[in-house]
Amino acid sequence: MTRQTLIAGNWKMNGDSQFIGELMSDIKGRLDSDWQHQILVSVPSLYLTKVKELAADTNIAVGAQNLSQQSNGAFTGEISGSMLADVNCQYVLVGHSERRSLYGESSTIVAEKYQAALDNDVVPVLCIGETLEEREAGTTMTIVKGQLDAVIEKSGIESIAQGVIAYEPVWAIGTGKTATPEQAQEVHAEIRAHLAQFDVDVAEQTQILYGGSMNPTNAEQLLAQADIDGGLIGGASLKAEQFIAICKAAG
Ligand code: 13P
Repeated sequence: MTRQTLIAGNWKMNGDSQFIGELMSDIKGRLDSDWQHQILVSVPSLYLTKVKELAADTNIAVGAQNLSQQSNGAFTGEISGSMLADVNCQYVLVGHSERRSLYGESSTIVAEKYQAALDNDVVPVLCIGETLEEREAGTTMTIVKGQLDAVIEKSGIESIAQGVIAYEPVWAIGTGKTATPEQAQEVHAEIRAHLAQFDVDVAEQTQILYGGSMNPTNAEQLLAQADIDGGLIGGASLKAEQFIAICKAAG
């Protein structure tokens, strides 16, 4: 089967109303009307409603960057899956490396968040990836499989096909150091092989995105790899020209 290509932006904690208005109109202005691929922007939660409105006449999907693993209650400052669904948020990133490293999100918490998203029909984008030390120690696949297995153990292998996986080597995020197409393809293929040990159909269906310093120059080669089904783009997603150039590099 052919998996659809998904080009996803992660704006992280950037922008304000004016910037976001300009960015969205610039993106829309550069998009071809017969666009084939899926496009997603993951925005600060405060601006979900605004971006949904700005994207209303397009097929750009809108996502959040985090959610609570709890469904409601005394969790000051948190945002639940049902709240995301309430504002028609379609996707949510879970387990981004910045959440894991800066906010102490363990793989157990990430798995709970993944399930919370599914419970509310919001598509979780599960971010996984190794640090430089882990790569140099030769433990990349142990780390990545462990991050995947936490979700599989909690929610079952079928749940993986209901979400999206984003392989983001930590050492490539925001560093300008991209994994080579061969390095990325190798890990993507191993992730798919790992999923296939549980369920061949799930392995075939699941979109696996690459993230980490993707830009208009390196995108074409990365996106041409057999097991790379799209990109999760940080810095370059804040510039419409670059983001759309990456979308076009997907062919
Ligand atoms: P950069 O594209 O800025 O490296 O960020 C990648 C990322 O973290 C996307 O989630």
